Amino acid sequence: MHPVRVGIIGMGGFAGSHHNTIARLEERGLLKLVCACDPNPVAFTSEQVSWRFAQRGVRVFDSYRTMLEECHGSLDYVAIPTPIGLHAEMHEAATAYGLPAYLEKPPTLDYAELERMIAADGRAAKSSMVGFNFIVEKSRLALKERLLSGEFGAIRGGTLCALWPRPSGYFKRNGWSGRLVVDGKVILDSCFGNTMGHFVHNMLFWTGTGGLYQWAEIAAVRAELYRAHGIEGADTFFVEADLATGCTLRFALSLSCAGASTSSETVICEKAILKYSVGGQIEVSWKDGRSERISSSPFDGLEENHLEYGRYLRGEIPRPATTLEDCRPIVILNDLAHISSGTICPIPADIVSTVRDEKEQKDYLSVTGMAKIVDNFLSRGIWPSYAGWRRNNGEVVTPSDLPRLPNVVGAMASVR
Ligand SMILES: NC(=O)c1ccc[n+]([C@@H]2O[C@H](COP(=O)([O-])OP(=O)(O)OC[C@H]3O[C@@H](n4cnc5c(N)ncnc54)[C@H](O)[C@@H]3O)[C@@H](O)[C@H]2O)c1
Repeated sequence: MHPVRVGIIGMGGFAGSHHNTIARLEERGLLKLVCACDPNPVAFTSEQVSWRFAQRGVRVFDSYRTMLEECHGSLDYVAIPTPIGLHAEMHEAATAYGLPAYLEKPPTLDYAELERMIAADGRAAKSSMVGFNFIVEKSRLALKERLLSGEFGAIRGGTLCALWPRPSGYFKRNGWSGRLVVDGKVILDSCFGNTMGHFVHNMLFWTGTGGLYQWAEIAAVRAELYRAHGIEGADTFFVEADLATGCTLRFALSLSCAGASTSSETVICEKAILKYSVGGQIEVSWKDGRSERISSSPFDGLEENHLEYGRYLRGEIPRPATTLEDCRPIVILNDLAHISSGTICPIPADIVSTVRDEKEQKDYLSVTGMAKIVDNFLSRGIWPSYAGWRRNNGEVVTPSDLPRLPNVVGAMASVR
C-alpha cells in the first residue's frame, strides 16, 4: 500500500496543525507530504526544521500556483487550511489540474461562491472534502444510524447551545477574523459560520433524515445578530430555522462570554431526547423515564479526517465525510441568518462587563443574564429583543431571499 501523497498550502495558523498531523501519519507510513508553501516560507524556518522537511524531502514554494504547477503530477490531494477568502481560488487552481482538496471549513460562507466551487469540483478525479471535524466520529455515526432506524421516533426539533469565550485578541490574530467583507469579498467570519460552525453543521447532520450522509434542507429562517466585541461582524447569534421536514431548530451561540467553553447539541424526538456534547456526555433520555449514557472514545478530528479522506481516495469507502454539496445547508442558513437580522445590534453596554483571567493575562466579556436569555430562547422561543436587547425582530426569510445577501452584508459593513 503506497502512502497517500499530499501537498499543504500554508504553514502558519491552523496549517501548522495540518503539518503536525501529517508528519505523524507519515511516520506510520499512511501519508506522504510532497510539498508545502507559504508566501514567506523563510518566516517558518524553525517550523520546517521541527517538521523535518529536509529529511523528508519536502519541496517548499513561495507560491501555491507554482507549487501546483510543478507538483500536481505527484499529488493525490492538496490540503487548503488557509484564510476563508482564499479557499475558492486555491480550490479552483487545484481542481484545474484534476486534483481534489481537503478544504478547511467553512469552504466559503457565500452561497453563490459555494455553487461555483461545487461546479469546479466536478473537474477533479475525486470529490474534495471539507474539514468539519466531527462528522467522522464513530459515536455520532452510530447514533445517527439509530435515529434513522426510527428507534427514537420522528424528530420534532432540536437546539444548539454553544458558548466559547474568546478574548479581544482572538479577533486580531489575522486580517479576516470577525470580518463581514474583506477586499470587497463577502467573508462573514463568525462563531456561527466558522468558529463553532462544526456544531451548526452537526445539527443539520442529525436532522438530515434522507440517509446517513444527508444534511437538512432549510425552508425559512429568523435571526437576531449581536456583538459585544469591537468587531465588524456578529459574535452572538440567535437563529431559528424551519426545515423542509417541518421541524424547527433553534441555535444560540456566542463568543461574548467568560468561563468554560460549552456546547450541547439536542435532538428532540417523539420517544426520546438526545443530548450530544463533543468531548463530553452523550445521553439519551427516554420519555418512559429510562436514560442511557453513551461513552465516546478520545478523538483527534484532524487526524481522523485525513485518514478517512485517504481511505476514500484509495477507493476503500464510497465518499468523504463532508463534500462541498453537503455544506449547502450551513452556508444557506448562515447567509439567511444575516439577511433576516438585517443589522448587527450591540448588546446593551450596561449588561456587558470585562472579566480578567489573571492566569492567561487576557480579558473576556461577560453579559449579565446571558444564561437566562439563551434558555428562554432555546426552550421557549423568546427572543433577546423581547428582553430589550433591540427594538425589532429579525424578518422571516427563505432561500428565495439569498440574492439579497451582497446588499445586506454591504450595508451591515458600512455602518461600522
Ligand atoms: N478544523 C478546525 O478545527 C479549525 C481550527 C482552526 C482554523 N480552521 C480553519 O483553518 C483555516 C485557516 O485558519 P487560520 O486561522 O489558520 O488562518 P490564517 O489567516 O492564520 O492563515 C493560515 C495560513 O495560510 C497561509 N496563507 C495565507 N495566505 C496565503 C497565500 N496567499 N498563499 C499560500 N498560503 C497562504 C499562511 O501560511 C498562513 O499562516 C480557516 O478556514 C479556519 O476556519 C479550522
